[in-house]
Amino acid sequence: MGMQGKKVGSSIGPLFDQKNSYLEEEKNDFSYRNKMLTIIPMASNKQNEHLLGVRIPEEIHLTLKKEAKEKGVPLQAYLGDIIANRSSIITPEQRALPVFRGTPKFKFIDLFAGIGGMRYGFEQVGGQCVFSSEWDKYSQITYRSNFGDTPHGDITKIDENSIPDHDILVGGFPCQPFSIAGVSKKNSLGRDHGFKDKTQGTLFFDVCRIIDAKRPSAFLLENVKNLCSHDKGNTFKVIVDTLTEMGYRLHCKIIDARSWVPQHRERIYIVGFDPKKVANPDSFKFPEPSKAGIHKLGDILEDRVDPKYTLSDKLWNYLQAYAQKHREKGNGFGFGLFGPNDVARTLSARYYKDGSEILIRNGRKNPRRLTPRECARLMGFPEEFRIAVSDTQAYKQFGNSVCVPLIKSLALSIVEALEQQKQKPKNRSGSYNEERLLQL
Ligand SMILES: C[S@@+](CC[C@H](N)C(=O)[O-])C[C@H]1O[C@@H](n2cnc3c(N)ncnc32)[C@H](O)[C@@H]1O
Repeated sequence: MGMQGKKVGSSIGPLFDQKNSYLEEEKNDFSYRNKMLTIIPMASNKQNEHLLGVRIPEEIHLTLKKEAKEKGVPLQAYLGDIIANRSSIITPEQRALPVFRGTPKFKFIDLFAGIGGMRYGFEQVGGQCVFSSEWDKYSQITYRSNFGDTPHGDITKIDENSIPDHDILVGGFPCQPFSIAGVSKKNSLGRDHGFKDKTQGTLFFDVCRIIDAKRPSAFLLENVKNLCSHDKGNTFKVIVDTLTEMGYRLHCKIIDARSWVPQHRERIYIVGFDPKKVANPDSFKFPEPSKAGIHKLGDILEDRVDPKYTLSDKLWNYLQAYAQKHREKGNGFGFGLFGPNDVARTLSARYYKDGSEILIRNGRKNPRRLTPRECARLMGFPEEFRIAVSDTQAYKQFGNSVCVPLIKSLALSIVEALEQQKQKPKNRSGSYNEERLLQL
């Protein structure tokens, strides 16, 4: 068999696919062999964890090393990814995050799920996730490790009618400009909703077609603050108009997560209620930041940090020179240097590049970047949250994610509004709460 093929999964497949014969062999001589691999169980001093030695031929080793290098991850992390990526490995019972015990209060779906920050916020207030979609394979690995199931892939390929019924839809869709050419002409042809014309070809269109088909009682959409000014305000206007035309009452607010975590992270939250299902769609109130609390970076920093996170002289000199150059030109750009009493800047998906946006003072040594575990804490993920991918992927995933405790607060407010849904209101149609728009 050729060893130079790209698909590692196929070259190490027999290791997993012949599980039963492995068990048989294990009984006999405590090792498993096939043509290519020898697996040797080894003693482990930890409960519920096992050490396996795998003896592999030189050719496979070289192939794996080459592929790990191409992906820019250490060999160990690459092997970990391959193992975790087998859907049979992590079962719902083996998920890292605690499961809400008790009867679920509502069902929800998790779109553009990333690593499940929205999901965990909604699960903590009694929600049961019945569907998720995320196409990035590394995010899927993290998601599966923590929630025990694998999100469906590309949302544009998923038939909305195949999605289970749910009460709440949540998602942080990527923001794209809309082309509005021809909208009014098409609208005048008497279509039900303009969304099909206005948003075609964007991921927001996919959100709309699911809302239109499934009519959840409520939704929570999250996005970067710039959504409001994107394409000179047109993108946000199309979103608001479209959801309103679809009959939902909207509440929009930019909230800074700094009252929930020691990080400034301003995001726009769009909450919608179907007035046909919710008695008082205007009773919804955004959580009060002031009540959440004061947090400092010292709360999330690790005591002992691997020296690999300390900046090299070369990078630190470069960042200082770059910042100096921009200061002289009157530009504000520079690295962000923080201590335990500070609140960090926004963690972005680019953090893996040089970490310059959040550097931590490090005594007499060069500053260091945050570790992936510190990033998890900075986003409000609990200690149980499993980081199952390389540092690079983990930085990207946390930078793209949401502030979990803030999502939990929002989920609580949405559920409170939904609990008033028992009686049906008279003569209510969807409209936009302009007072809230002014708050932007
Ligand atoms: C801003 S992130 C959302 C992160 C998420 N809220 C979390 O807590 O981690 C947007 C996500 O949408 C995913 N995405 C983009 N296009 C997609 C598509 N067509 N189908 C499924 N997922 C997609 C990206 O991979 C990315 O993880």
